[in-house]
Amino acid sequence: MSVQKSIRRITAPEIQARKGGEAIVSLTSYHAHTAAIADKHVDFLLVGDSLGMVMHGFESTVPVPLDLMIMHGKAVVRGSERALVVVDMPFGTYEESPSIAFRNAAKVMKETDCGAIKLEGGARMKETIRFLVDRGIPVLAHIGLTPQSINTLGGFKAQGREKEQWAAIEEDAKIVEEAGAFAVVVEAVAAPLADRLTKAVSIPTIGIGASANCDGQILVMEDMLGLSPRVPKFVKEFGKVGAQIDKAIKLYASEVRERSFPAPEQTYGMKKK
Ligand code: KIV
Repeated sequence: MSVQKSIRRITAPEIQARKGGEAIVSLTSYHAHTAAIADKHVDFLLVGDSLGMVMHGFESTVPVPLDLMIMHGKAVVRGSERALVVVDMPFGTYEESPSIAFRNAAKVMKETDCGAIKLEGGARMKETIRFLVDRGIPVLAHIGLTPQSINTLGGFKAQGREKEQWAAIEEDAKIVEEAGAFAVVVEAVAAPLADRLTKAVSIPTIGIGASANCDGQILVMEDMLGLSPRVPKFVKEFGKVGAQIDKAIKLYASEVRERSFPAPEQTYGMKKK
């Protein structure tokens, strides 16, 4: 007998169907506890390869291995029950050929139970996106600033700063749409270009440092919580979690040093929150 869960996860086709409708809310998440908190408020959670920089101290996303994405992907799936979970394909696991991309993306989907994967690149990823989608793997595309290309781009720079570069980025958006991506992340492009892309394609655009008129938005959770030591200029900090952690740890340290914690009457056990 199968056991039916009462809460059903949002699917990639449901996100795609939101084009031009209610704004799509998304955040990165790398662990079960933040996934559980965000799950009620977002439509999808991205296990972004930004976790290499945010959590593991790498200078870029380039060194992130597939197994690390799978480990964090599993945690986010375990912590959430409603949001679509999308796992990023890290650098070097999908660019070589569509069949290698399929092998690695299928491993991610089987081992994490996520609902979709994300990969970077526009026109150059056309065949790979088509290959994956035709074989049952929903793909979230990612154009504009593609951080895995930092070594060829020469840094984390806004894209399409010159109007002459707009046509190529618009072409990228149209190609990933045609190839079957269910939505496309548009990172660090000028707002008028992001607006133009949003009008040009029939799949949702998910902006990050792009335009409020995109079909949805995504931010790195640690950045918007005020937990990251350095954030891109466009990031709004919706909280001061870093400062709160600092304050709590300082208080704990002083209570331990004063020998006032734990209080003598405390016993070991769990309390409900
Ligand atoms: O890796 C990541 O977190 C991302 C988002 C910032 C879009 O790709």
